[in-house]
Amino acid sequence: MTVLALPSDVPVPRTSRPRHYLMCRPEHFTVSYSINPWMDPDVPVSTDRALAQWERLRRIYLELGHAVDVIAPVPGLPDMVYAANGGTTARGRALGAKFRFPERAAEGPAYLAWLREAGLTHVKEPVATNEGEGDFLVVGERILAGTGFRTEPAAHAEAQEFFGLPVTSLTLVDPRFYHLDTALAVLDDDTVAYYPAAFSPGSREVLRTLFPDAIIASEADAVVLGLNVVSDGRNVIVAAAAEGLIAQLSAHGFTPIPVDLSELLKGGGGPKCCTLEIRV
Ligand code: ARG
Repeated sequence: MTVLALPSDVPVPRTSRPRHYLMCRPEHFTVSYSINPWMDPDVPVSTDRALAQWERLRRIYLELGHAVDVIAPVPGLPDMVYAANGGTTARGRALGAKFRFPERAAEGPAYLAWLREAGLTHVKEPVATNEGEGDFLVVGERILAGTGFRTEPAAHAEAQEFFGLPVTSLTLVDPRFYHLDTALAVLDDDTVAYYPAAFSPGSREVLRTLFPDAIIASEADAVVLGLNVVSDGRNVIVAAAAEGLIAQLSAHGFTPIPVDLSELLKGGGGPKCCTLEIRV
């Protein structure tokens, strides 16, 4: 028998899976307070430009064949555009979010009300502080969970019990990367990219053990929130400024789709922050 091997410089072919996303139009987006180092209320923000950039992101998802729902934005909640923080979904279940800062507290019940109507089998009101898919990243049959700035470790145990999936705690140490989804990108059910220096030494070892073949991002790509991607397993929506990461993604057989979300970056978010995946 002849065993055919792919030449090692040919990337593995990647396959996409149709996704269901929830987004929130940035009608009330501005930077009026600062709860992360990216936010400077003295830097002007164009809500119109944010709307145009967001609309383009939504259109890309639709063109890729994904379903996109939108939740009504609430006046006075400028960060509600960052839908990833509104909850976590896996296996047809949703865990609501409980925000660390009072400025965002009212987003929790708003997203929870939407999730209750979304046809999921179980929807749980959160007990411990957790900022949804900002800090909980579903990778195949496991959940990676960030802590250090926003989500409390107690929420990691709560998520494991609720979803029945193993939850791996990771400690973030650099305030620029205050949510896990700013430091680590899920590309498919077993592939991630991350910026090691955003993690404690022990968490770096955990990541090396779990994902020995991970894509390692540079600081230059991390500081433009290049890791804040949305991937359908093949197409990866990524900040256009993350040029090195874009090249790495292509070399690994993914199809990068660069986007400019420069206005939303002023609030400390990129494409993933604006997108909550609904996993039924
Ligand atoms: N201004 C928001 C905050 O600091 C940005 C949230 C970004 N979301 C994310 N999933 N990383 O809470």
